[in-house]
Amino acid sequence: MTKALTQLEILTELEPVAEQTLNRHLSMAKEWHPHDYVPWNEGRNFAAMGGKDWEPEQSRLSEVAKVAMVTNLLTEDNLPSYHREIAENFSQDGVWGTWVGRWTAEENRHGIAIRDYLVVTRGVDPVALEQARMIHMTNGAQSPEDWGGFLENVAYVTFQELATRVSHRNTGKVCEDPVADRLLQRIATDENLHMIFYRTLCGAGLDLVPDQAMESITRILTNFVMPGAGMPNFRRNGVIMAKHGIYDLRQHLDDVVNPVLKHWNIFERNDFGPEGEKARDELAAFVDKLAVDVVKFEEQRDRLLARQAAKGQLQST
Ligand SMILES: [Fe+2]
Ligand SMILES: [Fe+2]
Repeated sequence: MTKALTQLEILTELEPVAEQTLNRHLSMAKEWHPHDYVPWNEGRNFAAMGGKDWEPEQSRLSEVAKVAMVTNLLTEDNLPSYHREIAENFSQDGVWGTWVGRWTAEENRHGIAIRDYLVVTRGVDPVALEQARMIHMTNGAQSPEDWGGFLENVAYVTFQELATRVSHRNTGKVCEDPVADRLLQRIATDENLHMIFYRTLCGAGLDLVPDQAMESITRILTNFVMPGAGMPNFRRNGVIMAKHGIYDLRQHLDDVVNPVLKHWNIFERNDFGPEGEKARDELAAFVDKLAVDVVKFEEQRDRLLARQAAKGQLQST
């Protein structure tokens, strides 16, 4: 069993890995520009400047696509909250501070690009969007009270970046517009690189302090909430997105939770003490239950979609 380390000791020990991983990130990340992903020739003035205000029939997006786009955008908009959390837990010193700044700048680009696309193409009501942004940012990100510290934060963002990658990718598909698809693919590529950074650091945390890291991972996964929690209509919109395969329980288990646990060799490791073992057992039971819930969820969804199809409501939510 390894000795428990303090937050500061963990950050100091992991600094060389952070530096290496940051350099790898910088060598992989490609520069891109939001303006290259927006069809500006579709833009026109709103009433305040002599044009026409938004009306629902101007949007080419389905209801599902609108919900998914707004949910993803509001999540990106809430960046100051996430920045705050990461800056506090990772610190702003040395290489950690460099990463926090770089990551924040990359994330900000996502919100810029999606908003420009939606406003120019009139995909959603810009007034409702702005009102939702004000509410969501004023509330800030909502995470369970007892989360804290580097290990829990890095475990959370590993899964969260992967979850947003899945969500952006599938949102691009459901828009049925090659321009939106290209934009969201571009963003999803960024999220993947972010996930790799955090997954590497959390993996290094597991090697350094296996029990502490394992307990953090279990706590995060058994309490997992998507980053958009707290935004207007989050529950309703989450249900719609799950129903239409943008982010559902199957994807959460198969594309997010399991691949990362496998990458860290969680269930094959033999470096845990009693506490790590206990946390791993708890996680194993949780993942088993999730697998059962996934099947139930899919059966329910199939029945619901079949009923709606029979009523000719396939296009609605
Ligand atoms: Fe993002
Ligand atoms: Fe990201």
